[in-house]
Order: sequence, then C-alpha cells, then structure tokens
Amino acid sequence: MTSNAELLEIAATVARRAAAFALQRRRDGVEIAASKSSLSDIVTRADRETEQLIRDTLSAARPRDGFLGEESGGGSSQSGLTWVVDPIDGTVNYFYGIPAWAVSIAVVEGDPEPTTWNTLAGAVVNPVSGEAFTAYAGGGARLNGEPIHVTDGMELPLALIGTGFGYDAEVRRRQAGFVAELIGDVRDIRRIGAASLDLCSVAAGRLDGYYERGLNPWDHAAGALIAAEAGARVAGIGGGPADRRLTVAAGPDLFEQLHPRVERFYADWD
Ligand code: IPD
Ligand code: CA
Ligand code: CA
Ligand code: CA
Repeated sequence: MTSNAELLEIAATVARRAAAFALQRRRDGVEIAASKSSLSDIVTRADRETEQLIRDTLSAARPRDGFLGEESGGGSSQSGLTWVVDPIDGTVNYFYGIPAWAVSIAVVEGDPEPTTWNTLAGAVVNPVSGEAFTAYAGGGARLNGEPIHVTDGMELPLALIGTGFGYDAEVRRRQAGFVAELIGDVRDIRRIGAASLDLCSVAAGRLDGYYERGLNPWDHAAGALIAAEAGARVAGIGGGPADRRLTVAAGPDLFEQLHPRVERFYADWD
C-alpha cells in the first residue's frame, strides 16, 4: 500500500509539472475556449489542456485510481482512491494575468460525491509565485517544505476574512448580501479569486478565516486538508464536511465565532 507521504509526493510532482505547463501556456497567449454556466464562468484552452496533462500523467502512474476533474469529469476507481483535480483554480485571474491562480491536486479515499471522502494528501501550486502548499493526513502542512500554521486566538473584529462568489448572478447577489452584513464586524474582507489559495492563505496565516458557499470538490479538496493540517477547523453546515452548501475554515477560536454567523445566513438556502 502506498503511504500518504508517497501519495503527496506524486500529487506535488504532478502539480508542479502542470503548473509549469499552465504558466508557459499563459505566456504563449491566453484564449477563452467557452463560457460555461454564465458569461463570468469562462474556461480557457489551457484549463482543458492542463487537466488532460494531469489526467494522462496520473492514469499512467496510478491506473487503478479514479479521477474527478473540473473540466473532464469523473472516472471510476478500482483501488478506492480518487484524484480530485482543479487544473487552474482562479481561471478569471489567469485570464487577466492576476498572479493568484493555482493547480490543485488531492487524493481522496471514498466517494467524492457526495462528500464522504477522506483526503489523504493535497498539493496546491501557484506557478507565478513559485509557492507549493502541501499536506498529507497526519503530517502537518508545509509551504515550500517549511511548516505553516493558522493564526490562533483571533477575535472576529480583528480578523481578515476571505470569501468567494459563484458564477450564477442570483447566487452572487445573495452572497453579496452576507458580505454587506459581515463587513462592519471584521477587520476586512478579501476576494482573492481562487478557493484553493484562500484555504492555503488560512493555512499560512495570510487570512484569519475563509468561507464560501457553492464550492465544488476540486475547489476545496486539497486546500481544506492543507488548512486542517495547519491547525484550522474546516467544516460545512452543522459542522459536517465542507461541501457545495458551505465551507468555513479558520483557527479554532475564530471558527467558533465565524461559523455560526455564516451558517445562520446560508443554512436554509437549498
Ligand atoms: C472558482 C474560484 C473562485 C471561487 C469559485 C470557484 P475556477 O474556481 O475558486 O475563487 O469563488 O467558487 O468556482 O472556476 O476559477 O476554477
Ligand atoms: Ca471554472
Ligand atoms: Ca476552482
Ligand atoms: Ca478551475
């Protein structure tokens, strides 16, 4: 059986290779391939090509494992392990040349949909900054090999909070409603534009907390493990696993203050 540390080595190696590829494609010139659910929901050729590279590399190295990627969907697992991949998280930043996008690769045990998985290892690589955030279950979280930790003992009024918005206009309006409610009660709010980097920012103490509604498994699988291994509590509705309805991540003290506020607003949405 492959250890979690060995799985992380694979995730990180493939993520670095894909990151270099996507960065080179960006330098060659970015091209929108299609709009997906709405005009703001774009996909570039590089999103698809990067996912194909990751998928081909993983299926050659790990032929019995499953795959779930944003651009090419799922493939069944014979081993019980599935690789959950966002080839470019932060496509809008990628398109505009804002240096906050990442390749996110996690390997999970169990079923990614619904979220009844156990994440074993995860790597999030920002190719522009050269930062690689990594973690395996039980092994702590690292940034370029150095241990990272969440901020601790944080009070909500002093907290810098990250969030994001979905692509549907109606959903966004409602999400903005909660931002309007929270903004007066916290230090400030950031919309970085890549959920994986939001979660890794919590892990590295660059954000005190983060919440978002509407994330897909590939947005949060790797980042949620990295945040948790850095000391964050990461949970969704009712303290259950992070899922499409809600993801909240923060150091334990701040989590106690942030999670109930967000949950109260979002719980009865479905
Ligand atoms: C999006 C980003 C964004 C978040 C959205 C995601 P994509 O992923 O992570 O920050 O707010 O919910 O869909 O489409 O750029 O991979
Ligand atoms: Ca997308
Ligand atoms: Ca994403
Ligand atoms: Ca993506």
